[in-house]
Amino acid sequence: MPVLRNIGVLARCLPGGAQSEIHSIPRAALAWEGETLRWVGSDVELPEPYRGWPSEDAGGRLVIPGLVDCHTHLAFGGWRADEFAQRIAGKTYLEIAAAGGGIASTVAKTRAASDAELLARCRGHLAGMAPLGVTTVEAKTGYGLSLEHELRVLRIYRELAKGPQRLLATLLAAHVVPSEYKARRADYVSLIIEEMIPAVAHEGLAGFCDVFVEESAFRVSEAREILRAGLRHGLRPKLHADQLNPGGGAELAAELGAISADHLECVTASGIARLAESGVVAVSLPFAALYLGCAPLPARRLLEAGVPVAVATDFNPGTAPSYHLPMALTLACTLQRMQPAEALKGATIIAARALGLEQVTGSLEPGKSADFAVLEADSVEQWLYHLRANACVRTVVRGSEVWRA
Ligand code: NIG
Ligand code: FE
Repeated sequence: MPVLRNIGVLARCLPGGAQSEIHSIPRAALAWEGETLRWVGSDVELPEPYRGWPSEDAGGRLVIPGLVDCHTHLAFGGWRADEFAQRIAGKTYLEIAAAGGGIASTVAKTRAASDAELLARCRGHLAGMAPLGVTTVEAKTGYGLSLEHELRVLRIYRELAKGPQRLLATLLAAHVVPSEYKARRADYVSLIIEEMIPAVAHEGLAGFCDVFVEESAFRVSEAREILRAGLRHGLRPKLHADQLNPGGGAELAAELGAISADHLECVTASGIARLAESGVVAVSLPFAALYLGCAPLPARRLLEAGVPVAVATDFNPGTAPSYHLPMALTLACTLQRMQPAEALKGATIIAARALGLEQVTGSLEPGKSADFAVLEADSVEQWLYHLRANACVRTVVRGSEVWRA
């Protein structure tokens, strides 16, 4: 039954309202019992029963809800530093993919890795995220691309979901058409619909189904079929939409009532209008724009249209080889012109909404999970402006400390 007192600023990040409204309380306190937050407010108003609980001094630091990374490709074999160098020399992402690199090369390395190796690598990445204040992670498949290998990665995610962080899994079997199906892509779409989705649903291995909608990956008509099949089996739709070209991905997300449409670097005006009407969360992935040298998603236009904009890392070996979510937030400010407060809400309550977790985590209010981070900064602006290796001194997930500096 601990209480954290002498918090300099506590950013509650409540749901609803403008994305720039983070509901800060100066000189605050926070009390939790077991896994659950019990009281949040001004330190001088801390009610009597909590005054007797064991307390700790936050030293006037900033406290935020635990960060939610709502888009990662966590499990993969190998890396692709060679492609990083090739892109700097002038090759494009699609040229590298056409020459056998890109996603296909990671598929080969992932299939070749043992279960133990993949599990240990994922654990290493999650252990690297905890000190950054990340308490919830979404993890996609998409480097297995066969029934056996997609299920294998999801079973690894099931193991990782035991903790310490909260982990939610997404089936991204429709990442690209694997090379063995290149000449018969319809058969691969059927395999996803008829075998993979039912098997995943039967074992309860994923909450979401995602499709990379792109000329080089899947067409809108194929994505519609796959995501509808997912819906029939209880998997909520997510999309990699309009990343490299405007391809109707945002419109499809709206049509299906997807929980999120991710990337959107090339989203059209009509796509933005459809997202706004349908309440789909846009997920911005500034590392991917940075590493590919593309214009980022038009965050200001989305926010002005009323679309909530989450921010995530897209951690993957090709286009976003970093799980540093606070750095992605700084990039969301500088590249996407999001205000620091908007970026913070984008990686807390809005990101939680992109995972259907808005009742569970993403804001600091009584009844929610005690997921929070203590940061060495006196304001959200100072935190995201002064970019450093790590400003987080303490991370708590479900009431238990998972990191202390
Ligand atoms: O989100 N766009 C597709 N998928 C990843 C890239 C994956 C890769 O290159 O390995 C992305 O950017
Ligand atoms: Fe991605």
